[in-house]
Amino acid sequence: MSTVAQPIEGYIGQLLTYFSSLPTSRLILLLIVNIPIITVAFNVLSQLLFRDKSQPPVVFHFMPWVGSAAAYGQDPIKFFFDCRQKHGDVFTFVLLGRRVTVALGPGGNNFIMGGKHTVFSAEDIYTHITTPIFGKDVVYDCPNEVLMEQKKFVKFGLSTDNFRAYVGMIEEEVLGYMKSDSRFRIFQMNDINEWGSFDALKTMSEVTILTASRTLQGIEVRNHITKDYAQVYSDLDGGFTPLHFMFTNLPLESYRKRDAAHKKISDFYISIIRQRRENPGQEEEHDMIASLMNQKYRNGRALKDHEIAHIMIALLMAGQHTSSSTGSWSLLHIADRPDVADALFEEQVKHFRQPDGTWRTMEYEEIKDLPILDSVIRETLRIHPPIHSIMRAVREDIVVPRTLSAPSEDGQYIIPKGHVVMSSGAVSQVDPILWKNATEWDPSRWSDPEGVAAQAYKQYDDANGAKVDFGFGLVSKGTDSPYQPFGAGRHRCIGEQFAYLQLGTVITTVIRQVEMKLASGVPDPNYQTMITLPKKPRDILYRRRQFD
Ligand code: HEM
Repeated sequence: MSTVAQPIEGYIGQLLTYFSSLPTSRLILLLIVNIPIITVAFNVLSQLLFRDKSQPPVVFHFMPWVGSAAAYGQDPIKFFFDCRQKHGDVFTFVLLGRRVTVALGPGGNNFIMGGKHTVFSAEDIYTHITTPIFGKDVVYDCPNEVLMEQKKFVKFGLSTDNFRAYVGMIEEEVLGYMKSDSRFRIFQMNDINEWGSFDALKTMSEVTILTASRTLQGIEVRNHITKDYAQVYSDLDGGFTPLHFMFTNLPLESYRKRDAAHKKISDFYISIIRQRRENPGQEEEHDMIASLMNQKYRNGRALKDHEIAHIMIALLMAGQHTSSSTGSWSLLHIADRPDVADALFEEQVKHFRQPDGTWRTMEYEEIKDLPILDSVIRETLRIHPPIHSIMRAVREDIVVPRTLSAPSEDGQYIIPKGHVVMSSGAVSQVDPILWKNATEWDPSRWSDPEGVAAQAYKQYDDANGAKVDFGFGLVSKGTDSPYQPFGAGRHRCIGEQFAYLQLGTVITTVIRQVEMKLASGVPDPNYQTMITLPKKPRDILYRRRQFD
């Protein structure tokens, strides 16, 4: 027993003698009154006295069940770095009744993201929050093999051919927004001397839903984006909070609104699908509904209407906050760095400004070849990945090396069945052990072909490297890269190319029209939402560009 434990043992002996001298009624009363204190004391003592050395160390916490929820919820990145300093790459913390084992660094990423899906299950941990929102029979409400097929169907719809059609549509939506939204009143007034301002997140949320619906979601959805629809969407979105992650159903307004909104949106998509079936030939050929209506599972069965509707809701939700958050952070950083803003603008002028002073719409293939734009998006995703923690439920006892950052003789821990495992690309992406000036937003790090960033990206997305097919086409392995904003392995994002196209077109359309600056610096991240968003104030000042 440890030296800490010896005085504690003596103290417990004295307490026991005292309590045994009390009458039973007094003892019961004392127990009832002191239940919270006794529970906390028992929790603290059990951590100090009974550590199971075969399992990862548990982060010390006073409150049972609540555990380290406050520290993790406040700032997960700081919490993870602090824990790593005390416990190493692998440790367990208690999060609202769950035992969560974190594995950090590229080794940790590889251990979890590259683990077998029969052992590390995404559906077991996510289904209770996603199924009431997306609906039945899709994503995490179906066997993993079916999800892989559904991802294949979506990937088929995210074709180069469709992407080519999307650039002009996105540009048109952004310009239309700037010409009509009240936040861009100063821009609309054509006054090049006055500065206006817009809330980065609010603006990017609206622009993201407009551009995603115009392209992926289809014309019927785009035409339906009214105030009423925005309210229904917001009710559905209200089901995507840490509370809903903890409790699938509670008798609260937000749960009732979530369920009503799901039904309304699902019925809306089903009505679109039926109308299209009844009027063949009129469907929008470039959108995802059209693509899904033509797909068949391996057993030859076509997708049912409700499956198409629910996949569409899943895509809407998967892309909305991730892209609007990344777009907001990108614009905030660009506004904060005039040198980067100038370089981005010059890149646009060089390639797309025509002799008559008008702008040419970018071709899809050209967007992929704009190094400054590319590095701005990559760097924003490095510092502000929208998803900071990725979880899996452990279905059987599993062995993990005690040290993941380097080969070592430290031995192993057992992570028991029933634990949740968590990986955090957000930590490895800003780890000072791996990156120079790790927390500094510096897009130029991506242009050094020998630098850490280039190496990390090569590991993540190596055109010539190892590829795996999980059922939705070949993807780079990428699980051991320190940089993985789109996840890795079989659950890797399939929206990556679309997100780059959408973000790239939105950012450049804005940059072509206005100069930007910040009144105060780049805001801190808010980790209390499911997706990491910029805190308020997050206003960007803008002024219409002046051309010679
Ligand atoms: C999965 C990030 C945009 C659809 C993921 C995952 C991450 C991610 C980290 C892995 C989750 C996990 O392993 O548990 C992002 C980011 C985006 C983005 C940073 C934008 C900047 C999109 C868009 C779509 C989309 C636009 C749809 C068009 C999906 C889907 C999955 C996924 C279907 C697969 C889920 C699974 O297999 O379990 N995304 N995403 N994402 N994302 Fe995205």
